[in-house]
Amino acid sequence: MKPNIEISENNLKEVATLLNNLLADEYLLYTKTRNAHWNIQGLHFIELHKFFETQYDEIDLMIDAIAERVRSLGHYALGSLKDFLSITHLTEENHDFSNQQQIMQSLLNDHETIIRLLRRNITTITERNKDAGTGDFVTGIMEQHEKMAWMLRAHIS
Ligand SMILES: [Fe+2]
Repeated sequence: MKPNIEISENNLKEVATLLNNLLADEYLLYTKTRNAHWNIQGLHFIELHKFFETQYDEIDLMIDAIAERVRSLGHYALGSLKDFLSITHLTEENHDFSNQQQIMQSLLNDHETIIRLLRRNITTITERNKDAGTGDFVTGIMEQHEKMAWMLRAHIS
């Protein structure tokens, strides 16, 4: 059954597509952050190992909220790694895990990519697609990424 919430079918579809793109980006970033949690090495290992865990836990909650928001709009959430990889704006890289600064910089770049994409989409979602709920929701996601980006930036000398 289609939601009867005064957002046109076309607008719901466009917003769901934007949210599924975001879901793919979050999935990539989640995996990259877990990879850092597992494989980082060098000075302050335990501190960094735990730091990455707090970051991927936060992304994990965002992933679930984004997917469920897609369902709330009457569309299906993507749930396949193949789909995520085919539409994500992020790329997977091979890192030297003893180069902590490079790992931090790469994750920071990804957070900032997501922040820039979200900032561009907020106006579209709220004004063109007339979906204030999702506009507010992704504004919250953007703020979370801004804080996580700060935490990473503070580790980079
Ligand atoms: Fe762990």
